[in-house]
Amino acid sequence: MQKLEQLYEGKAKKVFKTDDPDIVIVDYKDDATAFNGEKKGTIVGKGVINNRMTNYIFQVLEKEGVPTHFVEELSDRETAVKKVEIVPLEVIVRNVAAGSFSKRLGIEEGSALLAPTLEFSYKDDDLGDPLINDYMAIAIGASTREEIDKITKYTFKVNEVLKKFFADAGIELIDFKIEFGRYHGEVILADEISPDTCRLWDIKTHEKLDKDRFRRDMGNVEDAYQEVFRRIGIK
Ligand code: C5P
Repeated sequence: MQKLEQLYEGKAKKVFKTDDPDIVIVDYKDDATAFNGEKKGTIVGKGVINNRMTNYIFQVLEKEGVPTHFVEELSDRETAVKKVEIVPLEVIVRNVAAGSFSKRLGIEEGSALLAPTLEFSYKDDDLGDPLINDYMAIAIGASTREEIDKITKYTFKVNEVLKKFFADAGIELIDFKIEFGRYHGEVILADEISPDTCRLWDIKTHEKLDKDRFRRDMGNVEDAYQEVFRRIGIK
């Protein structure tokens, strides 16, 4: 497979064309942004960790029946993935109150939830990714009932698999964001699953091991990402 010209550069990744029309190569950067791009910085080594961790987790999820865009890890930062059309929804699951959920509902961060929640945000940087529900997403043509039902089923499966996966590494999965893509008429898991897109707390001390350390200027950001990577035990 040949890496051809760059198609797109996002906040955390670059995407390149290949000689196969169904495959693109993603290249993970160390650049970090928060608050819709208002805060910018670098997390040294993040690209390698997010690439390798996403690929490892996507292969675990595939085995559990969740289809993903993963094709082949090409290097520490580069992966061949199926070329999808991204469904313009950020799909967020929460097991414990934190972040925007705590703020919006006045519930203390760290409060256990009685059941996992499911939220959708409409992917639009100019609008700041506003919260949207399934009826709104269907009404504006962002998705369809059939697609959202599949996304919902896969998303709760991802939560079940990942809660156990991280718990085995001494990490509590507080919440996470995933994205899906359309590939030859099917909906499959795309984008990434990493400390950029999950809240991950030490199961005993509740120390934050994720991007909140960057968002909230808590320090030791690189150490936290390395710690998650080390505990998962990716060879
Ligand atoms: O900020 P909020 O509490 O809504 O974030 C919920 C989860 O979604 C967190 O794990 C956060 O890292 C993730 N997220 C993300 N990308 C965004 C917004 C949230 O990965 N643009």
